[in-house]
Amino acid sequence: MLSSPAKILKNATQHNYAIGAFNINNMEALQGIVEAAVEENASVIIQTSQGAIEYAGMDLLGSMVHTIAKEVDVPIVFHLDHGTNVDLVKEAIASGWYTSVMVDGSSYSYKENLALTKEIVALAHEKNIWVEAELGPIPGKEDNLDVHARDAFMTDPALVESFVKETGCDALAISIGTAHGVTKFLGGSKLDYKRLALIRAQTSIPLVLHGASSIPANLVNIAKTYGADLSTAKGISSPQIRKLIAGGIGKVNIDSDLRIAFTGAVDKYMTLNPDNMDPRQYLGSGREAIKKEVKRKMQLFGTSNTCT
Ligand code: G3H
Ligand code: 13P
Ligand code: ZN
Repeated sequence: MLSSPAKILKNATQHNYAIGAFNINNMEALQGIVEAAVEENASVIIQTSQGAIEYAGMDLLGSMVHTIAKEVDVPIVFHLDHGTNVDLVKEAIASGWYTSVMVDGSSYSYKENLALTKEIVALAHEKNIWVEAELGPIPGKEDNLDVHARDAFMTDPALVESFVKETGCDALAISIGTAHGVTKFLGGSKLDYKRLALIRAQTSIPLVLHGASSIPANLVNIAKTYGADLSTAKGISSPQIRKLIAGGIGKVNIDSDLRIAFTGAVDKYMTLNPDNMDPRQYLGSGREAIKKEVKRKMQLFGTSNTCT
């Protein structure tokens, strides 16, 4: 069933587990994730980036998510990931598809981020839509930062309480050492658990971990065997994820792991079956690989068997 994140994320935060938020760009990824949620009896957040919308279209993605959500009993949240384009965030709110949006003003000054987030919160709350905001930008591989530069990117705990109060945001994405993409920890940076504790003490709203993929060795090996270049790949380990959830993370964003799973499975299928041109076969193997990885995440995050 289509759901607001309100109850789900509050429950997770209270009971020390987390909800996985998984990015989709196509039907196969959506099906794999939802099948995993049903088998694990777990709530799930399906999210689309601005790039996904550009690729597949907001209405097509939204109608697929609403259709599949009607077919299952587990709660499905539909969320806009990293809304940096204000017009697109407003379009998502007006569209009627999303139950949650992220307004990402983290590349602006504190004052500008605050004003932008406040404006989106007012629009979204009128329609009962949740808002995730971001304080302190989460870097990507392209930023290629050394340790000191990474520190400057991190969320300042001293700003958290006033930012949350003044904006009225419902969840907060924080920067504590993770990075987007398959290569995290360039330049020797590491996770800042102390910063997480300081942030947690400043607010009770759900905290969101971006750049949380673990880049698992089994998936990397399959992808490498069939041609992928993942020489610098490094992610967040399972013990690190568990420690971060115990420290107060309630929503965990995963995209890269599903990309590696999907690409590796499709490459493998096509290499081993060079005479088969049926997209249902190779895309189906990608869908299965996503499902398997999402199930593993739900077990790791403690989401399995939490739906009553
Ligand atoms: O946080 C970013 C997500 O991995 C989405 O990436 O903008 O390439 O769709 P994308
Ligand atoms: P990963 O690149 O680590 O999967 O992070 C995804 C993410 O944060 C989406 O918002
Ligand atoms: Zn992100």
